[in-house]
Amino acid sequence: MIVNIFDKRFIDVYQFDKINDYSGKTELDIAVENIFNNEEVKKNGQKCSPNCSALCTVFLQQTINIPKLLNLENNELGKWMFSKFTESAKKFKLEEKCNINEFYFYRCWGNRLFKNADEGISHRHRLSYFDVPHLVAIYYHYVPEDGANLVFIKDQDEMKITGRHHSTYPEKDKIYFKPKTGMLVIHDPTILHAVTPHTSDIPRTCFIFEPAFKN
Ligand SMILES: [Fe+2]
Repeated sequence: MIVNIFDKRFIDVYQFDKINDYSGKTELDIAVENIFNNEEVKKNGQKCSPNCSALCTVFLQQTINIPKLLNLENNELGKWMFSKFTESAKKFKLEEKCNINEFYFYRCWGNRLFKNADEGISHRHRLSYFDVPHLVAIYYHYVPEDGANLVFIKDQDEMKITGRHHSTYPEKDKIYFKPKTGMLVIHDPTILHAVTPHTSDIPRTCFIFEPAFKN
């Protein structure tokens, strides 16, 4: 589903209908807990959040291979998700410049926010003059009702990979998006975005995938 945000830009949102019952769910749920209970992740996964209220594996991609650990090539969730990368690539008009049926992961990581995780610094996943990654796909494994929201920010500074804390941007230049468990949110890597503070007692867990399509 296309959701318009601003300046003719949009995000593409899908909902995995089978979150409570799909082939491979039990193994995937165990794998998710193993990732965030991994000693290396607990020790080094806090660099994104100095107050220790979030764990992120972005700096651990050599050892924490998310698609492999979640067995996405073989389970129903992974097959569904990969099909959405192709579907979404069409909407982002990527078939004009690449083969949207063949992709590799540029980067992938997991992110778990605990109570009082700060709002994240706003960022892009790619500057506009680079080619890859072509998309950013966020799969929301679990989001409590009062979990942190995603914020898209309209800015004029597309040559910087990071921006400021989202609360310093005028409200008129922001769109808030409330993710739900089982949602896959796909966006253009060049859009500035951030998350709001996580105030829920229950952790919020998502996985970020950066598909790059072959030429
Ligand atoms: Fe991001």
